[in-house]
Amino acid sequence: MEQDVERVLIAEDVIDKRLDVLAKRIESDFPGEVIQVVVLLKGALVFAADLTRRIPRMLEIECINVASYHGGMESSGQVNFLDHKLPEVKGRQVLVLDDILDTGLTLRAVVDRLKLEGAAQVKTAVLLAKDKERNAEVEADYVGFVIGDEFVIGYGLDYQGRYRNLPYVGTLSPDAI
Ligand code: PRP
Ligand code: MG
Repeated sequence: MEQDVERVLIAEDVIDKRLDVLAKRIESDFPGEVIQVVVLLKGALVFAADLTRRIPRMLEIECINVASYHGGMESSGQVNFLDHKLPEVKGRQVLVLDDILDTGLTLRAVVDRLKLEGAAQVKTAVLLAKDKERNAEVEADYVGFVIGDEFVIGYGLDYQGRYRNLPYVGTLSPDAI
């Protein structure tokens, strides 16, 4: 697996430190007692596990299964909600977690949907945000790292379903494609 990584972009210890900062900000920003966390599967799995354990607040974790990339390297442009039922968010203080903000279509669709479902507030946190123009009008409230417009894997991000378990964020070797 490691031989398929061309370059480590964000090392494990760097991610670690940054998550501490994000967690503190989230902890102090969120009003009320309980934070309703919504994790976007599958990419946000690793980020969510590491970030939520750093937030010393009462929180509930729900997941939504959405997909737009279908394992490839480019967004299909269409965001599909794969669940029969979405979590109950009416009146809740919601924090949506995703691994990466790219075209913005995923986050936009999810935020719109949760607001439609009656969430009192929807904030968003992403580990990575690509430095590019978005196809949808959306920016995350909490961003771990801004990266260039290149395809990345690891720390939850996949190529054809693989490499999500790499502990760092890296680029994929052309030989692996
Ligand atoms: C990826 C990634 C984000 C989204 C970002 O998910 O995990 O959720 O795309 O792209 P966007 O800003 O262009 O919408 P994907 O659809 O690949 O599913 P996955 O999370 O299961 O890997
Ligand atoms: Mg995703």
